[in-house]
Amino acid sequence: MGKVYYVSKHVGLGLLVLAVTALVTIIALSIAYDKERAKNQDTLGDGAADGTTPVPTPFTPKEPWDRYRLPVSLVPVSYNVTLWPRLKPGADGMYFFTGKSAVVVRCVKETDLLIIHSNKLNLTSFNGHHAVLTGLGQATAPAIQNSWLVVKTEFLVIQLRSRLSVGASYVLYTEFKGELADDLEGFYRSEYTEDGVRKVVATSQMQATYARKTFPCFDEPAMKAVFNVTIIHDQDTVALSNGMEIGTADSVIDGVSVRVTTFEPTERMSTYLLAFIVSDFVNIKSTQNKNLIWARRKAIDSRQGDYALNVTGPILQFYEQYFNATYPLSKSDQIALPDFNAGAMENWGLVTYRETALLFDPIMSSTGNKETITTVVSHELAHMWFGNLVTLQWWNDLWLNEGFASYVEYLGADYAEPTWSIKDKIILSDVHKVFAVDALASSHPLSRREEEVNTPAQISEMFNTISYSKGAAVLRMLSEFLTEPVFTKGISSLAVFLLKFSQLFVCCQAVENTPGMHIPHTVHDIMNRWTLQMGFPVVTIDTRTGSITQKHFLLDPDSVLDRPSQFNYTWFVPIKWMKTGVEQQQHWLLQETVSGEDWVLANTNVAGYFRVNYDLDNWHRLLSLLNTNHQALSIINRAQIIDDAFNLARAKIINTTLALTTTKYLSKERDYIPWESALRNLDYYILIDRSNSFYRIFSNIPILRYNQNNAIGIACSMGVQGCGELIKSWYRQWMENPHHNPIHPNLKSTVYCSAIAFGGVEEWDFAWRMFKNATLASEASRLRSGMACTKAPWLLNRYLEYTLDPTKIRKQDATSTIHYIARNIVGMPLAWNFVRARWSYLFKQYGGRSFSFSGLINGITKRLSTEFELQELMKFKEDNLHVGFGSATMALEQAIEKTTANIKWVAENKAHVLKWFNDESK
Ligand SMILES: *[C@@H]1O[C@H](CO)[C@@H](O)[C@H](O)[C@H]1NC(C)=O
Ligand SMILES: *[C@@H]1O[C@H](CO)[C@@H](O)[C@H](O)[C@H]1NC(C)=O
Ligand SMILES: *[C@@H]1O[C@H](CO)[C@@H](O)[C@H](O)[C@H]1NC(C)=O
Ligand SMILES: *[C@@H]1O[C@H](CO)[C@@H](O)[C@H](O)[C@H]1NC(C)=O
Ligand SMILES: *[C@@H]1O[C@H](CO)[C@@H](O)[C@H](O)[C@H]1NC(C)=O
Ligand SMILES: *[C@@H]1O[C@H](CO)[C@@H](O)[C@H](O)[C@H]1NC(C)=O
Ligand SMILES: *[C@@H]1O[C@H](CO)[C@@H](O)[C@H](O)[C@H]1NC(C)=O
Repeated sequence: MGKVYYVSKHVGLGLLVLAVTALVTIIALSIAYDKERAKNQDTLGDGAADGTTPVPTPFTPKEPWDRYRLPVSLVPVSYNVTLWPRLKPGADGMYFFTGKSAVVVRCVKETDLLIIHSNKLNLTSFNGHHAVLTGLGQATAPAIQNSWLVVKTEFLVIQLRSRLSVGASYVLYTEFKGELADDLEGFYRSEYTEDGVRKVVATSQMQATYARKTFPCFDEPAMKAVFNVTIIHDQDTVALSNGMEIGTADSVIDGVSVRVTTFEPTERMSTYLLAFIVSDFVNIKSTQNKNLIWARRKAIDSRQGDYALNVTGPILQFYEQYFNATYPLSKSDQIALPDFNAGAMENWGLVTYRETALLFDPIMSSTGNKETITTVVSHELAHMWFGNLVTLQWWNDLWLNEGFASYVEYLGADYAEPTWSIKDKIILSDVHKVFAVDALASSHPLSRREEEVNTPAQISEMFNTISYSKGAAVLRMLSEFLTEPVFTKGISSLAVFLLKFSQLFVCCQAVENTPGMHIPHTVHDIMNRWTLQMGFPVVTIDTRTGSITQKHFLLDPDSVLDRPSQFNYTWFVPIKWMKTGVEQQQHWLLQETVSGEDWVLANTNVAGYFRVNYDLDNWHRLLSLLNTNHQALSIINRAQIIDDAFNLARAKIINTTLALTTTKYLSKERDYIPWESALRNLDYYILIDRSNSFYRIFSNIPILRYNQNNAIGIACSMGVQGCGELIKSWYRQWMENPHHNPIHPNLKSTVYCSAIAFGGVEEWDFAWRMFKNATLASEASRLRSGMACTKAPWLLNRYLEYTLDPTKIRKQDATSTIHYIARNIVGMPLAWNFVRARWSYLFKQYGGRSFSFSGLINGITKRLSTEFELQELMKFKEDNLHVGFGSATMALEQAIEKTTANIKWVAENKAHVLKWFNDESK
């Protein structure tokens, strides 16, 4: 699954400060103007649930249907599935679908029980039973003794009068009816309005455990089978599925004129990758007709699909080379849906997207939108090989699937857009983001034991920042030290269809004995330390003594580690480094020592997943280098020095003043990534004092006087008034002539936010009208984020209420809207109160297994930093134990740990920080 994309964080910062001063406005504006490529990149992860609750020894229920895993006695071979979604409600007002399924199963272990997943389906009764069983070929099927549904484990259980024979095959036939709800899970309903007409789309999201809500199936990734799909639909609609359409026939069924579309049998595949869609969408295609982009007619007519189509060809080409294997399917459809919970989903041959992740308008979209589309498309297409063809055995290894796609998405995107330097972005979007989570004592290892991941909520919780971003960072490190040719050779030789992660490293071992390759241990031993224990090291280089040491990096040095590691939290660390501008031989920690008098920079190109600390002299040499000749270091190393320093300071390893000093060279910095790194870290300093007085000081520091070159910056440097006036006048012009928006797309996010923050109900209501009328999803998304910037509490409260009304805010956007409001300094307490008051409703309505829940918890608790708030947080946990926290369970534990650390940090650093800002602003 792709990541969930929220609006970029510097906008969040911008909005807080803008209202008070101009100088930070300049930053927000000029960065937005210069390099707005990051827009919408702040993913769920800041985000996602990471951490762990100690897992007790699993209790194994006696009855097989009370366990969450399927028994191993039967394997599916192929299915005939027919689905008929009704796009108009039935007599009782309910939207529904009907269907039938015949699955051929082979018996591999004698059994008199047939257990198959089925959830929220009403099954037709045949002679008092939920299914019909027949033998295939010579086999005769035993009679059914009894059949029943188990709601908790989502099983249909069929008890037979006698046993099935090993080696024989049987056909299990079911007919069923399910609700076509607007719940974004399984086969579901999406709605939109076109030319005043309300339209309904039937679409699907199976990952991770929703195929069973569509038809009875063996819903585990290793239970691969062939699917022969038939869809019955209205004659004025088109049906899509994973395979190529092989026939359509019009007919009358139950007195209704319908079209019956059949699809070629799929490749052998997992149920979580299935997709079924009925809509009146249209498409554009590439000249070879193999790649299609589908969307609402209006979007295709206004050419919003062109950009995605343009990059799809090159990206597929790139992966064919990368994997040394041709694209595995006969077609490639990609479709943009009005309602979709994740960012995108890699259904094999029919990839589904949020509209914001696929549709681009040359006039209205920003360069940041373009970057989002390229990286998301690249991520999903990587899965067509890795994930879909080669599939993980079970969800505990999810990190390999998502980490791999999250790493190579940058390579594919770079191939399609070689001028963007997009590969550098992994530093902000993955490495720094996951460092923040993985430095907590409540983090968890990349790899989990199979028995730790059982229930749907536990599976859902795997889709977190650790799996995606640490997975990406660690695989990138592996590729860097093995070198890319060796790494890709290892990957492309994976001729297996079901993978356990350990096999990957065995595989790489086979190719690592390349001439010239020096690795002190086996790939397996090296990688085990990065995957089986949580966290990462800080490497300390003392250039005076030449000593190099490592230590588990914990944000709060006083936190209690209740999870021991078999490796004692030590790592084999590949250290690329340079001395006075000269690249040195890769160094393996635990192997040798270095010494040096000149400046030393370790972790060049941020190739490794670790932080670096130096002796004070070397820190000062690096700081002076930054001030005199910052270009001697790569862009991402400049960003890394800032991020390392700020985090080392938070962990009390270096002095806060030293960290703040790393930002002084920024007045000369012209690149986006180091700035963004500094702004994200300074954003944390808002905790010092969540009142306006601090921003005034904050904004006066010289380091923030960045701008010079661009027109907006110059206009804004005239002062609070001038800058505010400029923004207001643009917005006013737009309000006077709603059909002509004078604001440059790359500046819209910042301008909307500021104008609404400066303005009142009139500005807000205008934004709301424009939001409801927007024809481009990313424009709607910018407005939705901008409306969270108002400083009027009553508007924010009203907006919070809107998130519970799907006719106002789509369900897919509800949690991210609350998250935006929580970023606003005025909105934070309101959002916090709102979520606490409505928890059980939100939880029920939006599904405890939805992974956007962990992002919600993270977002609303991010700035909690007082003892009182910590008490509230604990009480919230206690009060809702009966409702539960589902996939947000780990996120809640982390919130408690982070709040505790915040309280301590503020107490210890407030005086120093205020002094530094005061001194600098003199
Ligand atoms: C699905 O189609 C394939 C290929 O035609 C066939 O071998 C298989 O038996 C079919 N599956 C079922 C359940 O009939
Ligand atoms: C699956 O569908 C095909 C084509 O309609 C049919 O020939 C076959 O018998 C069906 N298989 C089963 C097991 O019902
Ligand atoms: C399934 O059956 C239950 C109980 O009769 C009923 O309330 C529900 O509406 C049915 N669902 C569908 C989709 O028809
Ligand atoms: C897509 O590619 C064509 C041909 O290179 C180009 O003319 C067009 O501008 C591109 N469209 C977008 C939206 O980038
Ligand atoms: C690519 O695959 C072909 C055929 O399987 C093989 O002969 C060739 O050596 C592979 N190339 C690389 C670079 O691994
Ligand atoms: C971890 O520490 C223990 C006790 O100091 C030691 O016996 C063990 O060998 C260490 N393990 C590793 C992998 O370093
Ligand atoms: C940091 O260093 C400065 C000067 O070297 C000192 O005045 C200050 O107290 C130190 N701050 C902390 C938090 O240790």
